[in-house]
Amino acid sequence: MFNKELEVTLHKASADQLKPKPDQNSLGFGQFFTDHMFTMRWNRRQGWHDAVIEPYRNFELDPAAMVFHYGQAIFEGMKAYRSKDDQIFLFRPADNFTRMNQSALRICMPRFPQDRVLQALRAMVYLDQEWVPKTPGATLYIRPTMIATEPALGLRPAEEYLFFIICCPVGAYYAEGFAPTRIYVEDQYVRAVPGGVGNAKTAGNYAASVKAQVEAHDKGYTQVLWLDAVERRYIEEVGTSNIFFLIDGELITPPLEGSILPGITRDSVLQLARDWGYPVSERRITIDEVIAASKNGTLQESFGTGTAAVISPVGEFCYRDQHIQLNGGTTGPLAQRLFDELQAIQFGDREDPHKWRVRV
Ligand code: COI
Repeated sequence: MFNKELEVTLHKASADQLKPKPDQNSLGFGQFFTDHMFTMRWNRRQGWHDAVIEPYRNFELDPAAMVFHYGQAIFEGMKAYRSKDDQIFLFRPADNFTRMNQSALRICMPRFPQDRVLQALRAMVYLDQEWVPKTPGATLYIRPTMIATEPALGLRPAEEYLFFIICCPVGAYYAEGFAPTRIYVEDQYVRAVPGGVGNAKTAGNYAASVKAQVEAHDKGYTQVLWLDAVERRYIEEVGTSNIFFLIDGELITPPLEGSILPGITRDSVLQLARDWGYPVSERRITIDEVIAASKNGTLQESFGTGTAAVISPVGEFCYRDQHIQLNGGTTGPLAQRLFDELQAIQFGDREDPHKWRVRV
């Protein structure tokens, strides 16, 4: 249900509720949270209501809240960037909220009024602007989330929900930073199935992926390359990111056919590569094609794309007993150019021809 009249109240943190700021050079990822958060609630009678920007706090939830039992939970990941002249920008935030509403529909949660929530987010980031890092490359990561709060154990869509947005200053997502990652090609576990929820940003997708990630870590790899659930041949994603290959000058990424998350960074990379004149294909690609390209010398680059990790170059794939090295383990020129261009647009150092930046 949409409530166009949604009013957002502001409860500012008092001086004694303000938290000490972390050292900007050792932020890690998602460990420190800002002074404020945004919350609103939904029920069938009132629609979205009680929207408030308030001091960051714990929630009190009934143990029977349906999110704990049946996992009705979705989220988004977006960032705020500080420019050299101290402006603060969001990057394509409306696209994140559109995707979140699509995720909501997929798991029978209510859609929310995107424009009002974006306004509230901008107000909150403005309020917490001191938390947007000044260190080069560091950002304020923004996590909009929606959970089912109705206390009930019958399996059906919940009739009460909590939507919230929290923010945290972050450095690089992977410990490697922008250095190439070692990737294990996973041919046992799968991330998503045809007809499933792979294209929705549900919490359960991430829970389901952790075991493969842990096993890959134990073998010395950063992340896994996910193959399709039916034939274990078609490449789908890498870790929590979309995946790209540059083969013989063609930039290839798997198509959005239901099991792949429609990444905002994925879409931005496609647009930039098209602007630069690369032949770009959203098409199915098998692990065998990648191995063949590696053997005949046409595999030039591979990288993951995502909000948290931005561009994450792959230095090596391990598939069964085969090791595929890329660029001698160094970052390829296209990955570097995309990273530089995206970061320059996000941090306000470049023109923004696609109108991706939104000022806070
Ligand atoms: C993101 O890239 O923003 C994500 O949501 C992935 C998450 C596991 C950090």
